[in-house]
Amino acid sequence: MKILLTGGTGYIGSHTAVELIKLGHDVEIMDNLFNSKITVLDKIAEITGVKPKFYQVDLLDVNGMDKMFAEGGYDLVIHFAGLKAVGESVEKPLLYYKNNVGGTINLLECMKKHNVKKIIFSSSATVYGEQGVTEMTEDMQTGVGITNPYGETKFMIEEILKDVAKAEPDFEAVILRYFNPVGAHESGLLGEDPNDIPNNLMPIIMKVSLGEIPELSVYGDDYDTVDGTGMRDYIHVVDLARGHVAAMNKMNPGVSIYNLGTGRATSVLEMVAAFERASGEKLPYKIAPRRPGDLAKICANPTKAEKELGWKTELDIEDAMRDTIRYLKNVKKK
Ligand code: NAD
Ligand code: UFG
Repeated sequence: MKILLTGGTGYIGSHTAVELIKLGHDVEIMDNLFNSKITVLDKIAEITGVKPKFYQVDLLDVNGMDKMFAEGGYDLVIHFAGLKAVGESVEKPLLYYKNNVGGTINLLECMKKHNVKKIIFSSSATVYGEQGVTEMTEDMQTGVGITNPYGETKFMIEEILKDVAKAEPDFEAVILRYFNPVGAHESGLLGEDPNDIPNNLMPIIMKVSLGEIPELSVYGDDYDTVDGTGMRDYIHVVDLARGHVAAMNKMNPGVSIYNLGTGRATSVLEMVAAFERASGEKLPYKIAPRRPGDLAKICANPTKAEKELGWKTELDIEDAMRDTIRYLKNVKKK
């Protein structure tokens, strides 16, 4: 299949590119390089032997996208491109709505014009909002209690895809709700590039290990969880990438929605301990106040993906830590 990955030089897109190329698919990448580097293409080539064709095009550049689609002849678009910093989205809501929602509308219009009927979209567990339950299933209500514009953009795009599918009977969309992606490619060549000031746990742990942040602040140790710290469903990025392959192989007209997670929740202190075991180093941390908007515990129920897509995770936190550390060693060498 000929597949366009928007945001394909990013963290999840690059790992998905590797899995698709390994299976013999013809992968092309479009990215504006706002949050990723062109050198990722060489890393993909080093792992797979194939350097994907690349377009430095922005979702907001309608002419650029039109040209790319005219050349492309794509069977499927996997739509990763988007801004994802929760805190920044609170400060710059218009930027997030314009880039994520506006950009997706441009993409969908372009797909329609060029007769591309299939899309897989990177959504997030954030669409579930706060429901007072810890295990999420796809049929639960979404869009209520979302605490930031980033999360709203994911919810809005899901609704847009549902409406397009109603209007166009041959449109095929898969919405993948990711839980917390962590880890890196086992080669140590691809990973989450800890360049900006991160908000998420794993990139912060990486920065602490690199000595760029003095210590990890653990946001709250008085939640009703195993050790009082927040619990999340951390999924290895390679398992996540393979979830896209599974989804791609089972597409149908209309919209299908799947959680991609492990079904297991891990606490912040358990993550710290796993990092220490894998690295053999002590990770300095302090207990800090709760972070506003955080939930105590959230976890995927991944049964639907297992039943319908035949996909489930194969890697665990120990694998994620081992691969992250391998990637960190390469970052340190730079
Ligand atoms: P990432 O930032 O590494 O990758 C996203 C890529 O999109 C970047 O390379 C960026 O340069 C590109 N991009 C952004 N706006 C663009 C635009 N207007 N035009 C062209 N390219 C643009 O992020 P990621 O972690 O790989 O996330 C991929 C997708 O998955 C995003 O949509 C994100 O919201 C979603 N998601 C991520 C997480 C997570 O924790 N990483 C969780 C849930 C959902
Ligand atoms: N945490 C800390 N210290 C930090 C960073 C995080 O203790 O410096 C804790 C959080 O309190 C939470 C856990 O680590 O308990 C995970 O936090 P992340 O920020 O890594 O992840 P979240 O689950 O809070 O958020 C993620 C994505 C969002 C998405 C959300 C819901 O970053 O984009 O999942 O799917 F909206």
